[in-house]
Amino acid sequence: MTTPFPEDRFRCLPKAEIHVHLEGSVGAETLLALAADHGVEPPAPDARGVRRWYSFRDFPDFLERYFFVCRLLGRAEDFRRIAYDYLLTAHAQGAVHVEFHISSSYHTQEVGLDWSVVLEGAVAGCEQAERECGISSLLIPDLSPHLGVASGHATLDAVLAQLHPRVVALGMGGPSDAWWEEDFAPAFERARAAGLRAVCHAGEHGPAREVQHAVEKFGAERIQHGIAALDDPRVVELLLRESIPCDVCPGSNVALKAVSDFDSHPLPRMVEAGLTVTLGSDDPPLFHTDLLNEYRIAWEHGGLREEALTTMARASISESFAAEEDRERWLAGFEES
Ligand code: ADE
Ligand code: ZN
Repeated sequence: MTTPFPEDRFRCLPKAEIHVHLEGSVGAETLLALAADHGVEPPAPDARGVRRWYSFRDFPDFLERYFFVCRLLGRAEDFRRIAYDYLLTAHAQGAVHVEFHISSSYHTQEVGLDWSVVLEGAVAGCEQAERECGISSLLIPDLSPHLGVASGHATLDAVLAQLHPRVVALGMGGPSDAWWEEDFAPAFERARAAGLRAVCHAGEHGPAREVQHAVEKFGAERIQHGIAALDDPRVVELLLRESIPCDVCPGSNVALKAVSDFDSHPLPRMVEAGLTVTLGSDDPPLFHTDLLNEYRIAWEHGGLREEALTTMARASISESFAAEEDRERWLAGFEES
């Protein structure tokens, strides 16, 4: 019999959630409320139906539904609400810090929203949650590779025109075929010159070379997913040499069929290879998961135990972009727990 996952122990452990998408944190009830507010026909009449609708044949099918949710977000109040709601959920799971990836290219270039609407709302939600329960949070606007380089620069223009202390990095979202052949590097250069950090989704559905490209061409300091890195020892070596962590989300990888099942997920092999790994939930209600459940999956299916999972929780804090004094304070919590 396998040792049961010590859920309470891991709930109490300080941890950061550094790979979660603000728009992907919208649960079924909130989706229905947003649809009613905006006079949009929901994909199902009730929460059960929406939860069923949250299941995907493949990544394009996922993106279609994810962007449906994005299109329900039109007012600053919508962004405030979803940021605040998720931060309370994360707090209840023992998260002390959250970094929201935001699909800024989609909102500004596809929907035509002003970045100030997204920013004002998300910041208000972060401030409210911080006042009420002390949880810390930052924002990572990301580019959508399928919208192209020009759209990436236009997004960045908007982000850089209104830099806010909570906006700490530029990210790159879901893959499109051979995105590394397009020249997104100058956009990341501009972002870094303006003081932003760089992160990138890579090696999720695509090959290890995406990870290499993200590190070498974009200056990515963290890779979201990176599960394909193991396919190329040179890429593993690169991540080790540059001390670049992978923010891994097994629940997402199985839901989106990047990996066929939990038992064959490469997470334990990534740990064995010496890579720094953090756990995230990506788009939790869409994948019927949450942060604590990702730790459970690693325990029950990856065979990882107390020491490895505690190392990941620590890494989620030390690899976050929170201020050094905050990281040190949270890390001190490990001595006490
Ligand atoms: N955007 C939202 N969720 C994503 C995922 N799992 N992979 C890539 N981009 C995303
Ligand atoms: Zn992601």
